[in-house]
Amino acid sequence: MNSLSFLQMMMLIMFITAFGTTKSGVDAQTSPPIARGLSLTFYNSNCPNLETIIRNRLRTVFNNDIAQAAGLLRLHFHDCFVQGCDGSVLLDGSASGPSEKDAPPNLSLKAEAFRIINDLRARVQRACGRIVSCSDITALAARDAVFLSGGPDYRIPLGRRDGLTFATREATLRNLPPPTSNASFLISTLANNLNLTATDLVALSGGHTIGISTSCANFGGRLYPTRDPTMDQTFFRNLRLTCPANSTINTTVLDIRSPNVFDNKYYVDLMNRQGLFTSDQDLYTDSRTRPIVTSYAINQTLFFERFVFSMIKMGQLNVLTGSQGEIRANCSVRNPTSSSSYLSSVVVDDNEQQEVVEGESAAF
Ligand code: HEM
Ligand SMILES: *[C@@H]1O[C@H](CO)[C@@H](O)[C@H](O)[C@H]1NC(C)=O
Ligand SMILES: *[C@@H]1O[C@H](CO)[C@@H](O)[C@H](O)[C@H]1NC(C)=O
Ligand SMILES: *[C@@H]1O[C@H](CO)[C@@H](O)[C@H](O)[C@H]1NC(C)=O
Ligand SMILES: *[C@@H]1O[C@H](CO)[C@@H](O)[C@H](O)[C@H]1NC(C)=O
Ligand SMILES: *[C@@H]1O[C@H](CO)[C@@H](O)[C@H](O)[C@H]1NC(C)=O
Ligand SMILES: *[C@@H]1O[C@H](CO)[C@@H](O)[C@H](O)[C@H]1NC(C)=O
Ligand SMILES: *[C@@H]1O[C@H](CO)[C@@H](O)[C@H](O)[C@H]1NC(C)=O
Repeated sequence: MNSLSFLQMMMLIMFITAFGTTKSGVDAQTSPPIARGLSLTFYNSNCPNLETIIRNRLRTVFNNDIAQAAGLLRLHFHDCFVQGCDGSVLLDGSASGPSEKDAPPNLSLKAEAFRIINDLRARVQRACGRIVSCSDITALAARDAVFLSGGPDYRIPLGRRDGLTFATREATLRNLPPPTSNASFLISTLANNLNLTATDLVALSGGHTIGISTSCANFGGRLYPTRDPTMDQTFFRNLRLTCPANSTINTTVLDIRSPNVFDNKYYVDLMNRQGLFTSDQDLYTDSRTRPIVTSYAINQTLFFERFVFSMIKMGQLNVLTGSQGEIRANCSVRNPTSSSSYLSSVVVDDNEQQEVVEGESAAF
């Protein structure tokens, strides 16, 4: 089932004929503007080996367990969608964190991803002192998760600062769309809340080219009581075996063609009606996003280009910069004294650099 059907090929040819010679749907710009306070060379002088440390460590981690790549990519997405890319998702008490017992299953992130971030932070601190934020480490880990799974390599702007407040359950639920969302809902909420376009939506959803769903409840409504008509019959029958009931706890890959490889097969799945969530499959049903799906299914280079653009854009959502927030010494908790004292930064390790701490008090 790796090839497209004849009908789909005909449609592709029609599509290419109609749009192939124009720049339709393709932003001429290859990179979004860099947010004020961020830069591609932010740590060049004070932590020149930062990116090498992270990449080499993740190479080892992924050689051992490639599933962790998906966990790290999703972590950065959750961080950015809920109150900006400020590392708030990493804090104990954050509504999608591993310590939050009553987080809905569709929000729970892999516990191991948090441990990997803390391990990376410790390694970076040993080399450079406490100067790299947990939010930057999370962004770099997501970038490397993409590349080390077979995706594109690219540079990301750095200089994010860590937020002081964790993401509440309410804010998390409000900002992360459920997998039952249709394309209309996704297009309008991403545009209204996050300045993300339909093209960004389709490209970023390509993150589902790796990783798993851990509960049938994420798509149970597409299997019971009857088959969602936009779902392929064979795919449906197989999913019913994995999910004998509406909300069975069982794992399912997000991209049946190449579940651990970052490629454009996710879009080929959608064209074959084998997208797992409504939020995936409806991108092919909706006439506004369908041509974008098709264009990525037939041209992986185009997908990679657009994914990089949208990831850089997502990675800069509501970032804290300059003297805002802090550089956490432990990604799971706020620095202990930052809210109570102007002199908080006197308590630092010998090899740490003195950090400028603002006198502002925390928001809680
Ligand atoms: C557009 C709206 C989105 C919805 C509704 C959505 C929903 C979900 C859901 C329900 C899961 C399964 C979680 C579980 O059962 O444990 C999941 C997994 C995942 N999502 Fe999304 N997602 C969206 C966008 C994104 C974006 C933008 C990215 C990254 C660019 C992303 C990356 C991932 C990855 C990598 C996984 C697999 C995680 C793992 O294997 O640990 N998702 N998503
Ligand atoms: C998560 O799943 C629950 C049911 O399991 C549902 O009520 C809720 O709307 C979902 N929320 C998100 C953000 O996916
Ligand atoms: C999409 O979802 C929204 C919100 O759940 C709903 O109001 C709307 O009718 C749906 N649109 C389509 C075309 O299904
Ligand atoms: C919205 O996104 C576009 C790129 O798609 C960018 O040029 C623009 O600066 C962004 N606007 C804001 C307010 O971030
Ligand atoms: C399965 O769950 C969905 C919501 O996820 C619900 O709409 C549907 O009615 C349920 N079906 C059965 C048979 O319980
Ligand atoms: C989980 O899915 C596998 C097939 O993917 C199936 O053999 C197994 O019975 C399922 N487990 C449950 C509890 O339904
Ligand atoms: C695929 O997309 C790339 C990047 O936009 C473009 O340069 C190339 O011409 C496209 N290839 C085809 C066969 O359309
Ligand atoms: C970081 O904070 C968490 C939560 O308080 C704690 O369990 C963990 O041991 C701390 N890690 C380090 C290295 O201090």
